[in-house]
Amino acid sequence: MIYTILLLGSKGQLGNSILSVATEKNFKHSFICKDIETLDITKKEAISRFLSEQKVDIIINCAAYTAVDQAEDEAALAYLVNETAVFHLAEIAREKDIYLFHISTDYVFDGTSSVPYQPEDATTPTSVYGKSKLAGEQAMTGSGCHGNVIRTSWLYSPFGHNFVKTILRIGKERSEINVVNDQYGSPTNACDLAMAILTLIDKGNFNTGTEIYHFSNRGIITWHEFAQEIIRLANYDTLVHPISSAEYPTKAKRPHYSAFDLRKIENTLGYSIPEWKESLREIVEKLV
Ligand SMILES: NC(=O)c1ccc[n+]([C@@H]2O[C@H](COP(=O)([O-])OP(=O)(O)OC[C@H]3O[C@@H](n4cnc5c(N)ncnc54)[C@H](OP(=O)(O)O)[C@@H]3O)[C@@H](O)[C@H]2O)c1
Repeated sequence: MIYTILLLGSKGQLGNSILSVATEKNFKHSFICKDIETLDITKKEAISRFLSEQKVDIIINCAAYTAVDQAEDEAALAYLVNETAVFHLAEIAREKDIYLFHISTDYVFDGTSSVPYQPEDATTPTSVYGKSKLAGEQAMTGSGCHGNVIRTSWLYSPFGHNFVKTILRIGKERSEINVVNDQYGSPTNACDLAMAILTLIDKGNFNTGTEIYHFSNRGIITWHEFAQEIIRLANYDTLVHPISSAEYPTKAKRPHYSAFDLRKIENTLGYSIPEWKESLREIVEKLV
């Protein structure tokens, strides 16, 4: 069976990574790629019209409002993209029997846990972004469509803006940098997440209703450890000093701990997700 897949938000980090992995692995299914200019997910009629004219089997929604701090001042826009648009997408997916992959975030958790979060753990987001993403998850779960919410964390790739690219840039410019050392989580190479989504499709792993999964690379670290490893892999001499979150105030409150329990997704995929250092090396080598 060859599926037609509508990739929304195709110019973002994950959208680009899905296309890049699909090309590299000769993925047999076909993609229709849409970005905000060619199909804005907040335009319900445009989505509806497009899907009436074009047969689609699967939607992968990589489109999102992702500016975590800016969302504190732009709540209406964050909710429009991350909740309302997802609600409409999920409704259309249910009506047209299209399988929906939707991506969410570790920021749906408040970070008070000290053990990795399970997909069914209670969610208490502390930021507008986290709340809007949770609202999107709930819209999808409540819609009756079939698909997956895949929560991910600390996403990076060779595309767009991300922590790895920022550290490489400022690490090259400066001899010393300060990075927060009291927020624990797990980085995710977007190509590994792309591979997981493509594997679920290739395996025909389609559930009834909405199933939530957690996906990140293996290993629980702080942003400081993450930065140190980026600098080491890039062979820069930059000193990376640990600081507290209090010393680096941000508009949005981030969870102190947001690592995922990965057993559910690994059992479904049938393979172990790569360790964070291994996956990071591949990207830093490409970028330096
Ligand atoms: N980045 C992370 O660290 C991280 C962590 C956890 C979870 N996630 C989740 O992972 C998913 C992918 O994130 P990412 O890092 O790939 O995000 P990204 O690079 O910001 O890509 C999101 C894409 O969506 C587009 N977009 C925004 N509003 C849209 C609209 N109304 N219609 C269509 N497209 C629209 C953006 O276009 P513009 O650039 O033109 O706005 C961008 O191309 C998101 O659901 C995000 O919430 C990300």
